[in-house]
Amino acid sequence: MSDLTLIMLARVIHVMTGVTWAGATFVLAMVVVPLFTQHGSDGAGRWLALVARRAGMLTGISALLTVLSGIYLFATLHQHDDSAGGLMLKAGAAAALLALAVGLFIGRPAGLSLERLQAANMAGTAPGPDVAREFGALRLRAAVSSQVVAGLLGIAVVAMAVFRYASAVI
Ligand code: HEM
Repeated sequence: MSDLTLIMLARVIHVMTGVTWAGATFVLAMVVVPLFTQHGSDGAGRWLALVARRAGMLTGISALLTVLSGIYLFATLHQHDDSAGGLMLKAGAAAALLALAVGLFIGRPAGLSLERLQAANMAGTAPGPDVAREFGALRLRAAVSSQVVAGLLGIAVVAMAVFRYASAVI
């Protein structure tokens, strides 16, 4: 396979999985998590937890592919690019990597614990005050981390969209 074919393939994977990662994250942060926070205890919680789990898996796989293809593209095409566009590209990539870390180390554990508590609740165990407090804290952590991840991915998307033209404008 020629270098150019590899670069094209990496770009296709990068853009496709980047769109999926950012899109699914926006839906999680703006639709699923707020609905879970408001209606988690009145019956919708089980279904919303299932949706969040599936979407979480999708974001995890697409995040990994976006980062791997992005690192390859960066190493091949932009390693020594210190122009305004190159710096913007680095800032966008850093925002996306930070989003991955927040999602992996804060959002995912909070989501898994919420799912576990939700399942215990469904099994008929009435939530005591301690469990209710834990529920509240986990919902808050999941809501804040999903919004932080969405904000960071928003920055990454804007940077990726404009970096190619930044040097001509700045
Ligand atoms: C959600 C996150 C991301 C999205 C939506 C995204 C999207 C995009 C898009 C649409 C382009 C094409 C821009 C153009 O050609 O004008 C691009 C290019 C690029 N991205 Fe990302 N990206 C993301 C994360 C990352 C990360 C984490 C890295 C590096 C670790 C990265 C590195 C690159 C590089 C080096 C290019 C330039 C490729 C080239 O010059 O052909 N991206 N990205």
